[in-house]
Amino acid sequence: MGVNCLRISVTDRCNLRCVYCRPQHDCDFIEREEVLKSDEIHRIVRLFADCGVDRVRLTGGEPLIRKDITSLVTRLAATKGVSELTLTTNGVLLYQMADELKAAGLDRINVSIDSLEASSYKKIAGYDFSSKVVRGIRKAIEVGLEPVKINAVILRGINHSQVVALAAMSIDLPVTVRFIEYCPTSSNTQAAEDYMPYDEIRTIIEDAFGPLCNATIERGNGPALYFRIKNSAGAIGFIAGRSTVFCESCNRLRLTSDGRVKPCLYSPAEYDIRQLIRADAPDEQVRDVLKKIIAGKHAFTRLNSPAQEFSMRKVGG
Ligand code: GTP
Ligand code: 5AD
Ligand code: SF4
Repeated sequence: MGVNCLRISVTDRCNLRCVYCRPQHDCDFIEREEVLKSDEIHRIVRLFADCGVDRVRLTGGEPLIRKDITSLVTRLAATKGVSELTLTTNGVLLYQMADELKAAGLDRINVSIDSLEASSYKKIAGYDFSSKVVRGIRKAIEVGLEPVKINAVILRGINHSQVVALAAMSIDLPVTVRFIEYCPTSSNTQAAEDYMPYDEIRTIIEDAFGPLCNATIERGNGPALYFRIKNSAGAIGFIAGRSTVFCESCNRLRLTSDGRVKPCLYSPAEYDIRQLIRADAPDEQVRDVLKKIIAGKHAFTRLNSPAQEFSMRKVGG
C-alpha cells in the first residue's frame, strides 16, 4: 500500500494526564530546543509532499497548546501537494479554537473523550473536562470541521461502563464514535487486564442497540472499521490495533515532536530528520532519505517489533 500519510506530534506536552499515554517509567518532557520549530515542520512536510505524502495529521501531546498552532495550520494547509490537513485533539481548548482552526484551513478534526461522566473521565485524564470537551465537539460540527470523529480508549473497570453512552452520541449527532483498543506503551503492560478487545466492546453496543449495520461513510486514512446503529445520524468505528493486525495495509509514517521519523508505532526504529534539517542539508539530500524511509517502511510491523517502552505523546498516537 502507498505510504501517503504523515502523523506529526507537534508537542509532547499536554494539559491532561491520561493513564494510557505514558510508559511506566515516564521520562521528563523533552527540552524546548529539541522540539521541531514551525519552519522545520513546514520544510519536512513540503519535502514529504514531494515524495507523495499528501495527508498530514497534527497530534501530540496536545497540539492545541502549542502557541503557534494556528499559524502552523495556515502554513501546512497552503503547502503544495498537501491535499488533507487534519488534527487529533483532547478537545479541552477546542470550543474557543474551532473557528480559527477552520479559518486557517484545517479540513477536519478527531477529538478524544473516554467518558461522558465526571468521575471516570477524571480517573483516566487526571481532571474532569468532559463537559468542556462535549461543547468543543458541538462547536467543531457547527464550524464545519467535519466529519468529526470521537476517539475513546476503553479500559476495563475504568470506563467500560461508558461504552453505551458514548455509542449513543452517534444516534443524535453527525459524529463517528470510535472505540480504540488500548495499546501497551510499556513492555510490562502487554498483558494488562484492563485491555478490552474490539469484539467485547461491539457486543456491549449490540446488546444495547441491536445489530450494527455496515456503514458507508468517508473512511478517513486510518485502520478503523465502520458501522452504524440503525437510524442514527452518525457512525460507530473500531480501531482494533491489538486484537487484529493491519500492518500490511498501513499507509502512515510518524514524525515525533523531536524530529524523528518512525516507520511503525511499535518499532524502536527511527530516523533522525531534525539532525539533517539543522545541519542545513540540501532539499535533495533530505528527499533521498525520506524516499528510502518510505521504500523501507513495510519491513517494520507490530509483529516483528520487540515489546518496548515508549512515550505515546512524543510519538503522537
Ligand atoms: P482518520 O481515520 O484519518 O480520521 O485518522 P486516524 O484514525 O488515523 O487518526 P487518530 O489520530 O484519530 O487515531 C486514532 C487512534 O488510532 C490512535 O490511537 C492511533 O494510535 C490509532 N492508530 C492510527 N493508526 C494506527 C496504526 O497504524 N496502528 C495502530 N496500532 N494504531 C493506529
Ligand atoms: N492506546 C490506545 N490509544 C491511545 N491513545 C493514546 N494513548 C493510547 C494507548 N496507549 C489515543 C488517544 C487519542 C489518540 C491520538 O491516541 O486517546 O485518541
Ligand atoms: Fe494528553 Fe492525549 Fe496523552 Fe491524554 S492521551 S495525556 S490527551 S496526549
